[in-house]
Parts: sequence; structure tokens; C-alpha cells
Amino acid sequence: MSDETYQQQLAQEAELWGSESERMAEVVPPEWTHHRHLRHNVIVHGPEIERLLRLVKPGMTALELGCASGWLTLALAQQGADATGMDLAEKSLAVARAYYEKVQPSVKGRVTYVAADFNRLELPAATYDLIVVKAVLHHLVNLPSVVQELRKALKPGGLLWIDDTNGDEAPLSVLIAGALCLVLPTHTRYRDKLRALWKFGLRAPGRVKASIEAEGLSPFEGAGREHDWLKLIDDHFTIERRVSQPGITGYVSAQLKLPDALAIPFLKALRALELLLVRLRLVRSTGVVLYAR
Ligand SMILES: C[S@@+](CC[C@H](N)C(=O)[O-])C[C@H]1O[C@@H](n2cnc3c(N)ncnc32)[C@H](O)[C@@H]1O
Repeated sequence: MSDETYQQQLAQEAELWGSESERMAEVVPPEWTHHRHLRHNVIVHGPEIERLLRLVKPGMTALELGCASGWLTLALAQQGADATGMDLAEKSLAVARAYYEKVQPSVKGRVTYVAADFNRLELPAATYDLIVVKAVLHHLVNLPSVVQELRKALKPGGLLWIDDTNGDEAPLSVLIAGALCLVLPTHTRYRDKLRALWKFGLRAPGRVKASIEAEGLSPFEGAGREHDWLKLIDDHFTIERRVSQPGITGYVSAQLKLPDALAIPFLKALRALELLLVRLRLVRSTGVVLYAR
């Protein structure tokens, strides 16, 4: 990719996520006490985020890569950390800074927000007790050097926490997620779903797969899938804990058009079933949370 194309795509990436941060901040304040009630957090990410936050001790130095509107960086500081949030999107950082300014007097630790392109990341050596990277690695084209920077920047014994997707969605996961979204009430009308099924026929699973992997949304979506970040982390760190996330449930949760009172019990049951299928190795989970040192 030429440098000009890369810069254009990077600008698109920043615009996409910056606008998303602005939109989300209108709906829900960028703070974990509010974000924890969002459906994707209740169903998929919440338990491991809570676990992470319990590990943060006052005075720790923490870095979050891909902080977007800053809700997680702020949560680290609320636990007493001296936290730095980095992101490409200036619009996201503006949302994060404005919110931090508002709540700063009640925050135990400190927050600094810094703009950076992680594909050209340079971090100071042995600086952080904790590095957090959520839903970012699969957007990066220069993963081997990013992982080396993370290794360099983490203090000896420090914790690296990652929540991301790894690898392609397996055909069975795609079929289950597609079938559930076909029969359940989703944000797409039944008439349109049937039309799409008629139009795409045997190519329909491919469309669902692309949708699960969020292709088309960001110019770099899935760029990092080629690199197998899990292997890179395994090569450079000691993995202490690895948790599978329910990818099918996560996808259905985002599509489902039902009030939370109905959706949440259904999704919790689906999550339990999916994690059982993962444990029985009938379905492969691409969602992973890692704790590594
Ligand atoms: C899927 S969002 C995740 C945001 C946040 N971590 C979360 O889970 O809510 C990906 C974030 O990574 C940032 N990002 C993507 N590519 C980047 C790059 N090359 N350098 C720095 N940040 C990048 C985006 O601006 C966006 O905020």
C-alpha cells in the first residue's frame, strides 16, 4: 500500500471512530458506570472488564491503546491509576478530554490522552504496570512491531490485557448466527431479510460472515486477522489467563430488536449454550480475552 493510500485510509478510520465516539457520547456518557449497562457489555465484555478493574491498584501506571471516548482509560484512573489513553481519532480524544475535565475532581488517579498511529507506535521502555488493548489489534497492519513495543513498554511483571477477535469466523458459527438473525426480530425487517436470502442464495452465509467480521465498516477492519496476534503475544509474553468470548451471542445481541427485559435473559441463555458448544469444541470462539505478563 502506498503511503498516500495509507494516509487516506487512516483519515477515514479516524473519521469513522471519531464520529462514532461523538454519537455514542450523545446517547451514554463515556464512563464505565454507564457503559456497563450497554447490552454488549452485559452480555459479552462486562465480566472480564470488571475483573480487570479489580486488578488495578492506586499509583499503577496504565496505558490504553485505542481508548476512543476514554471510558476504559477513565475507569482505570477511577481505580487510582495514572492512566494514558492513546487513539488515532482526534474527535474521540476531544470527547474523552471534555468528559475527563468534567469529572476530574472525583477521579482518584490521573488521565492523559495522546494522539498516535499504532502502526508507527513508539513507546517508552519499562514504563507501564498495565497495558490494555480492547478491540484494536485486528485493525492494525503492523502487528509484529506493535507487539514488540508493548513488550518493551511493559514493566517486568506488568500485565497486558487484550480483548479482541482472532481468526476467521468458522462456517458453523456463521450459520448459527445467520439462522438466529433470520428468525428473531432484528433491526432488519423480515421482508428485507427474505429478499436478501432470495437475492444472495448460497452466497448468503458469506454475507453474514462479512457482517460478523464487520467488513466494510472500517478500511482496516480485519487487517490484523492475517497476523494471528494471539501467536505473536504467545511468542513474547507468558499467557496467564485466556477466556473465550461468545461471538455468536455478541453478534445476535447487536442485531436483536427486543427490549432489554426480553433480550437480556434470552441472550444470557444463548451465551451459556454457546460457551458450552465452545467447550465441547463444536464451535470455535474467535473472541478472546487475554491476561499476559
Ligand atoms: C473498535 S474501536 C475500539 C474502541 C474501544 N477500545 C472500545 O472497545 O470501545 C477501535 C479504536 O482503535 C482506534 N484505532 C484504529 N486504528 C488505529 C491506529 N492505526 N492507530 C491508533 N488508533 C487506532 C480507533 O480510532 C478506535 O477508537
